[in-house]
Amino acid sequence: TSTQATSVSISGDISSQLHAGYSHPLARSWQAERQLTKEMLIYPLFITDNPDEETPIPSLPNQHRRGLNRLVPFLSPLIRKGLRSVILFGVPLDPNAKDSLGTAADDPNGPVVAAIRLLRAQFPQLYIVVDVCLCEYTSHGHCGILCDDGSLDNTQSVERISDVALAYALAGAHCVAPSDMNDGRVRAIKLKLIEAGVAHQVLLMSYSAKFSGCLYGPFRDAAGSSPSFGDRKCYQLPPGGRGLARRAIQRDVAEGADIVMVKPASSYLDIISDAKELARDMPVAAYQVSGEFAMIHAGAKAGVFDLKQMAFESTEGILRAGAGIVVSYFVPEFLDWLS
Ligand code: PBG
Ligand code: ZN
Repeated sequence: TSTQATSVSISGDISSQLHAGYSHPLARSWQAERQLTKEMLIYPLFITDNPDEETPIPSLPNQHRRGLNRLVPFLSPLIRKGLRSVILFGVPLDPNAKDSLGTAADDPNGPVVAAIRLLRAQFPQLYIVVDVCLCEYTSHGHCGILCDDGSLDNTQSVERISDVALAYALAGAHCVAPSDMNDGRVRAIKLKLIEAGVAHQVLLMSYSAKFSGCLYGPFRDAAGSSPSFGDRKCYQLPPGGRGLARRAIQRDVAEGADIVMVKPASSYLDIISDAKELARDMPVAAYQVSGEFAMIHAGAKAGVFDLKQMAFESTEGILRAGAGIVVSYFVPEFLDWLS
């Protein structure tokens, strides 16, 4: 290397010399503005109404639907490894559980409310996020209450969604996260939290820029939440809609969101970067959704790449774009890999 050094003349251009900055593993780590840590990770859990159930979800490798009795044994070892936060999704399997209003969403005896209480009592250090939506609970599978023509009734939906969020907050959720995409729900939830006297302790994380598309397929298998007719294109954002996403992010910041989320993650890195710019005074979260996770597993299984390396590369891209919080089905693996 000493011969290489002499080949650059004193008067030559030295701005071309980059390798020194990343020749050592530690120096490489310094090149990232954010390093992935266990504190950044939120792990999704699917909770069913059958207490003893533990059923694998075929399209979502290594993920299960679990009943209440299965939660503590499953989570205990993960918490010992450094798990800090989970996001809860309710999955009612009882065929009578669903109706046009999503009544079961905030059933005080339902699996989500019971899980919040159980996890708060059993794991005092665990930060509990609860997804707020109606699609798992409505007979039609849409994320709100419908008008006669099958479109979303925004006023009624927001009224109902904000009641559900408040019920989760009162049950002990640290964070409520509306994923329904009805207009004005962040403001409605915040006002109800204020009115109930819990707004100072319950964080509101909005799925602000949530795009429609095919990447939620495995989740809908897991949660049984596919719409029975139509699609979600009139409330989830069109994939090309960067301007709409920017407006939605700014709107939710103005309505009182404490964290804004972008979802899916890897195909929407520009939106994550926009969110960091538009909501620069708050944390930005990204959801690496079920389809992204399934795709990485499928690629690894097909021998395209190594699972662990791809899981890190995809997550590092999400952090580089501007996210400081990542919701991911890889969390159990990351707890091992980051140890
Ligand atoms: C409920 C909800 C969905 C996801 C999070 N909350 C499904 C949907 O909108 O259809 C998707 C998460 C994933 O795919 O991992 N509205
Ligand atoms: Zn929904």
